[in-house]
Amino acid sequence: MSDERITSVNMKQGELRNEVNLRPQTLDAYIGQQGVKDNLKIFIEAAKLRGEALDHVLFYGPPGLGKTTLAGIIANELGVNIKITSGPAIGRAGDLAAILTNLSDNDVLFIDEIHRLNRSVEEVLYSAMEDFALDIVIGKGPSARSIRLDLAKFTLIGATTRAGSLSAPLRDRFGVISKFELYTDKELKNILNRTAGVLGVSIDEESLGEMARRSRGTPRVANRMLKRIRDFSQVKGNGRIDINITKEGLKALGVDELGLERLDRDILTTIIERFKGGPVGIDTIAASLGEERVTIEDVQEPFLIQSGLLYRTPKGRMVSSLGYAHLGLEYVEKEED
Ligand SMILES: Nc1ncnc2c1ncn2[C@@H]1O[C@H](COP(=O)(O)OP(=O)(O)O)[C@@H](O)[C@H]1O
Ligand SMILES: [Mg+2]
Repeated sequence: MSDERITSVNMKQGELRNEVNLRPQTLDAYIGQQGVKDNLKIFIEAAKLRGEALDHVLFYGPPGLGKTTLAGIIANELGVNIKITSGPAIGRAGDLAAILTNLSDNDVLFIDEIHRLNRSVEEVLYSAMEDFALDIVIGKGPSARSIRLDLAKFTLIGATTRAGSLSAPLRDRFGVISKFELYTDKELKNILNRTAGVLGVSIDEESLGEMARRSRGTPRVANRMLKRIRDFSQVKGNGRIDINITKEGLKALGVDELGLERLDRDILTTIIERFKGGPVGIDTIAASLGEERVTIEDVQEPFLIQSGLLYRTPKGRMVSSLGYAHLGLEYVEKEED
């Protein structure tokens, strides 16, 4: 059920292949995240001039903001190979060793969800990142000995939705740490326009603006919305996307004026109806809704906060007067205690 959501964190079947075509290949074609891009441009240029590997890079921010895409672009701009894996996919230290020993000088290793590496794997990564070496123990008991294996000078690019859950020793080994921000409507419009071009979809200005405004600052959501509305326009219309088709389609998809979906509204409603508008802890909210805490924290909450519908206090989350208004409910001013 959760996978029906436009905001779903999980990629849907077939989407990975599709996304490959939608992904820009160069820094110049990558829209937005200007601060992150400006820095990287310089570091990439410098690394190329010296003929060295780029410093290790950590990307963090909510899902769907272009972290994986930018990792691919970095490798492309450096003119090196990229090996893509993820924290949960590297089960044992030996798996990581196999990956590392297969890298060539200046190659990029991309580890998605790097906060989910297990401890023993993470420890192997420390010396690999710092000294480009692996310490391997051969044999067991009294005859065990340790040998050091030299590795190619590679660049690690790590991506995580939460920099806070990375251990300090791992975080400290990244030379560049970049935070991804939600996109502006204007940037999303450009991204949608580009995607429409790649997909060969005809769409007008107004519809681009409407979708951008309701995509909760997230390119993955925007692209997914465009594809769904395209389906809609082919079945219900003449294949062209105009504002009527767009509005009708978004309504059918359960996306409201602000871009909220059912779960977003359920979060606000639950806090208001069951907890008097808050403050209430995130675990309690998640339990009441039967949802994963991480989904709420990583996907729903950043946007609800950015939209001013929800805010955080030391005692928990509270719905703002704007949040009440958005649901058409009367806001009751709270006594400060
Ligand atoms: N800056 C951007 N410009 C154009 N398309 C983007 C941009 N950022 C993300 N996208 C698109 O959004 C989708 C999700 O991006 P992705 O890199 O997988 O996000 P993340 O790794 O942060 O979850 C991809 O289809 C990608 O093409
Ligand atoms: Mg990704």
